[in-house]
Amino acid sequence: MASIQALVASFFLVLAVTATAHPTKKYPPSSSSSLKVGFYKYTCPSAEAMVRATLHEAFLSDPGLAADFLRMYFHDCFVRGCDASILLNSTKGNTAERDSPVNNPSLEGFDVIDQAKARLEATCPQTVSCADVIAFAARDSVFKASGIYYDIPSGRRDGRISHASEVIKNLPPPTFTAPQLIANFARKGFSVDEMVTLSGAHSIGISHCSSFSNRLYSFNATHKQDPLLDPKYAAFLKTKCPQGNSNTDPSVALDSITPNTLDNKYYQQLLTYRGLLSSDEALYTSKLTKGMVLNNAKYGAVWGTKFVKAMVKLGSLDVLTGKQGEIRKICSAVN
Ligand code: HEM
Repeated sequence: MASIQALVASFFLVLAVTATAHPTKKYPPSSSSSLKVGFYKYTCPSAEAMVRATLHEAFLSDPGLAADFLRMYFHDCFVRGCDASILLNSTKGNTAERDSPVNNPSLEGFDVIDQAKARLEATCPQTVSCADVIAFAARDSVFKASGIYYDIPSGRRDGRISHASEVIKNLPPPTFTAPQLIANFARKGFSVDEMVTLSGAHSIGISHCSSFSNRLYSFNATHKQDPLLDPKYAAFLKTKCPQGNSNTDPSVALDSITPNTLDNKYYQQLLTYRGLLSSDEALYTSKLTKGMVLNNAKYGAVWGTKFVKAMVKLGSLDVLTGKQGEIRKICSAVN
């Protein structure tokens, strides 16, 4: 753990000035359509380094932002593809994705993306898309939280449309069963194993009580408390999320073993019925996905390799390229 932190700290410092060097742990990208690794090599050579430097500064004051950028990437790519539609502000007559209750107020880090974009605009005006900034931020967050580095193809362009109503139509809620999660990810071209693998992102970050408190107090007609929740863990969660506390919405770590490290401990906690969200535990209790959870719990390095591959694939979802869309001047509004 200490060595990962040291590696991560030096990586962010050293690479703040150069975008070309890479640390040792590295996986090749899977080939993906028209996106390409090093897309800005000639047009804005320090693009990736500028994003990384901005994140480095932000992580110093709020390490929890790494989880936000992973989630932001998922929420952007599953709704209208990876087109930075999640970054657009609501306008008169249109509520944008970021103001859907799924994202607001729980999703943070928009200000950091805006800072990175401002830095990029100062050096390379209207060259680097906001969609690529999100993809770089997610990649750097994975490295920050796990020590695993991967190349992420770029060349995405920004969309001009964002509707809050499309968020719940595309993103799975935490109450989904395994077959529902499988169907939701299959619609986006992901296999069952890729879905289980990507769920390992819940190895960092937090959930607000409102996302799982039904498991503690109002599960179903027969059981007030979810019988698939370890009773000791449920008792702990009740201290964090008191019943009827509607004014505040406290939060709890998604991974109770290593809450700040992106690793396979998330899967290990599912084996002891300590998955926080019902959609997490469902991956272990369903025979459709149980074997994959067991494998990921056992073979951490294999999971890591599959995870970065699936992250690259996620980043190629329904992307705009070439002359499609635009390169926004600021990420929160269309040009
Ligand atoms: C499999 C279906 C998924 C469901 C049902 C789901 C649902 C959720 C929910 C309900 C939360 C807590 C929100 C809150 O109360 O604050 C959350 C947090 C999070 N999700 Fe997911 N998610 C899923 C998949 C993913 C994927 C694929 C990724 C990324 C690749 C991801 C990344 C995260 C992260 C990092 C957090 C913590 C955010 C933070 O600390 O601010 N999730 N997710």
